[in-house]
Amino acid sequence: METFKLTPRAKKYLKDMLWVQKDIWKLPDNYPHYAIEYCEKFSESIVNKKYSSEERSALFAELHKRQMIMQGPFWLGDDIVVGGFWNKRESTRNIFERVFPTGKELQGKRILEIGSMSGYDSFYLNLLKPQYYLSIEPSGYYYQAEFLNSIYKTKIDFKQWFWQDIPQKLHGSFDLVLNCGCLYHEYDIISMIKKTTELLRMGGSIVLATNIIKKRKYADYIKYMPDVYAGDMTYWFVIGEKCLFRLFASFGCEGKLIFKGGAAGDAGKGKTVEGYPLEEYNFYLFTKTAEKSRPLITIPRY
Ligand SMILES: C[S@@+](CC[C@H](N)C(=O)[O-])C[C@H]1O[C@@H](n2cnc3c(N)ncnc32)[C@H](O)[C@@H]1O
Repeated sequence: METFKLTPRAKKYLKDMLWVQKDIWKLPDNYPHYAIEYCEKFSESIVNKKYSSEERSALFAELHKRQMIMQGPFWLGDDIVVGGFWNKRESTRNIFERVFPTGKELQGKRILEIGSMSGYDSFYLNLLKPQYYLSIEPSGYYYQAEFLNSIYKTKIDFKQWFWQDIPQKLHGSFDLVLNCGCLYHEYDIISMIKKTTELLRMGGSIVLATNIIKKRKYADYIKYMPDVYAGDMTYWFVIGEKCLFRLFASFGCEGKLIFKGGAAGDAGKGKTVEGYPLEEYNFYLFTKTAEKSRPLITIPRY
């Protein structure tokens, strides 16, 4: 196991995750139990891996420094499975088996994932052998992805970037962009849609997952609703499907619904923790069919 020294900057980002993990999600100290056979095999390098007791202690000490892993489960070899408070296995399989049914569609392709958290979807799609996978996550979760990758030893290019940091030289260069679970956290959504569609090559696609207004009569609205979602201060709005499609059409993309992923934020009683009605959480595929963009301000920046 490769160990990374956490810089003071990294420690700050990791500390920032605590309010969400402790105050909002109130995570217990132990990970949920998952059988090894249930977990994805993200790397051949772990299949025959056996950990000595020293290696085991070192591994958990390193993990401990990186706070709890939300996504998962992640099998790390031997009998070690971590993460999985948020069980990603079914939804990740459901979506990508639909979008890439032969499993060969991504061979030789360039993928960008924004807001990849600890990298669950990145590790999953990397199994489909893309030529290049850029996986960006600005928060402390980046350090978890980096650590997991030191065990899986994949070629995924993990970067601690915001989508705003993606350099212009990469515009037009990606076959697939993943934007899952990020739009409703974003206060600058038109910029986000503009930037991510500009990153696509013509004919390339975006898989986008977001909260969608359930009532069809409000399909061309955006409903601004902070403070309704399990105390999550980064949740801003829910968008109507028609509105979403029109926004993407303005940037040359045609959309289709690929999967209804249920209703995020269900506190178990068909309402959010704060008692608000649940909306939908849907997955869409947007394909770039025209070179079309709009300036966000009237004066271009050079
Ligand atoms: C709800 S999580 C979704 C994680 C993952 N995409 C999934 O679906 O399992 C949203 C992620 O977006 C990240 N994020 C927030 N602002 C971002 C930005 N400006 N650029 C890229 N990612 C961002 C958050 O840190 C968080 O990890």
